[in-house]
Amino acid sequence: MNIKGSVVLVTGANRGIGKAFVQALSDAGASRIYATARNVDSLKEIVAIDSKKIIPLGLDITNPEQIAQIAEIAQDVNLLINNAGVLGTGGFFSPSSIEIARWEMETNYFGGLYMIQAFAPILKRNGGGAIANILSLASFVNVPMFGSYCASKAAFHSLTQGVRAELAPQGTLVVGVYPGTVDTDMGEKVPLDKVSPSEIAVFTLQAIEQGIEDINPDPMSQQVIASIKQDAKAVEKQFATLLPN
Ligand SMILES: NC(=O)c1ccc[n+]([C@@H]2O[C@H](COP(=O)([O-])OP(=O)(O)OC[C@H]3O[C@@H](n4cnc5c(N)ncnc54)[C@H](OP(=O)(O)O)[C@@H]3O)[C@@H](O)[C@H]2O)c1
Repeated sequence: MNIKGSVVLVTGANRGIGKAFVQALSDAGASRIYATARNVDSLKEIVAIDSKKIIPLGLDITNPEQIAQIAEIAQDVNLLINNAGVLGTGGFFSPSSIEIARWEMETNYFGGLYMIQAFAPILKRNGGGAIANILSLASFVNVPMFGSYCASKAAFHSLTQGVRAELAPQGTLVVGVYPGTVDTDMGEKVPLDKVSPSEIAVFTLQAIEQGIEDINPDPMSQQVIASIKQDAKAVEKQFATLLPN
C-alpha cells in the first residue's frame, strides 16, 4: 500500500486524530482525501489544508443509508480509515451506563462494521487496498473509569481480526491501530500522559506502507503491549486503579 497517490476516506475528520490523518495524508502525497464528519460545516478548516485534494462530506457512521450514499460518491477509495469514535465515562453502575454502552457500541463497533461492509466491495474493485481501524490500548485492558468504551474497543478489535481473515482473499490489508492516550478532546477525559495526534497519524501511515497489521503508534502503546505479553494480570491490576469518580 503506497500512501502517495492513494485515495482515502477518513471518518471523524473534523478534529483530533482524524484531522491529523488528513494533514498527514496530504503531506504524504495522497491524491484525493474524502474528509467526512457529521457536520460538514465543521470541515472548513480541514479543506483549507488542500482544497484541490480534500473533499468534505457529511457522514454519521451510525446511519447506514448515509453510508450507502457516501459509498456511491467515493467509488475510487483504496484506503478506508475508520477513525470516528466516542467515549463515555461513569463506569458500569452509573444511572446512564446502559445508554452510554449502547451509544459506544453503536458508534465504535457497529459504525465500523457498517463502513467496512459498504467499502469492502469498493476496495476489492480498486485492487484490494487497505482498512485502518483506530482501536486503542483499551482493546486489550479495561480502564474502569470508562469501562464500557473499553468493551466496545475490544469488540472492534475482534471484528478487525475476523474481517482481516474474510478480506484476505481479495487482497485487502486490514490493520488495527492501538494508541495510548492522545492529546485530543477525547484524551482530555483520561488522566495520563499524552502524545500528539499527528504522531499517531504519521506513524500509522508509515506502518500501513510496511504492511504491519498491528500498529502500536506511540511509546505508551509499545510499553503496555510489551507488559501485557510479560504479565497481563499485572497490567489489569495497574489500570484497575483508575476507577470512576
Ligand atoms: N484520544 C485518545 O486518547 C485515544 C486513544 C486511543 C484511541 N482513540 C481513538 O481515536 C479515534 C479518534 O479519537 P480522538 O481522540 O480524535 O477523539 P475526538 O477528538 O473526540 O474526535 C472524535 C471524532 O469522532 C467523530 N464522531 C463521533 N461520533 C460519530 C458518528 N456517529 N459519526 C461520525 N463521526 C463521529 C467526532 O465528530 P463530531 O465532531 O461530530 O463529534 C470527532 O470527529 C477514536 O476512535 C478513539 O476511540 C483515541
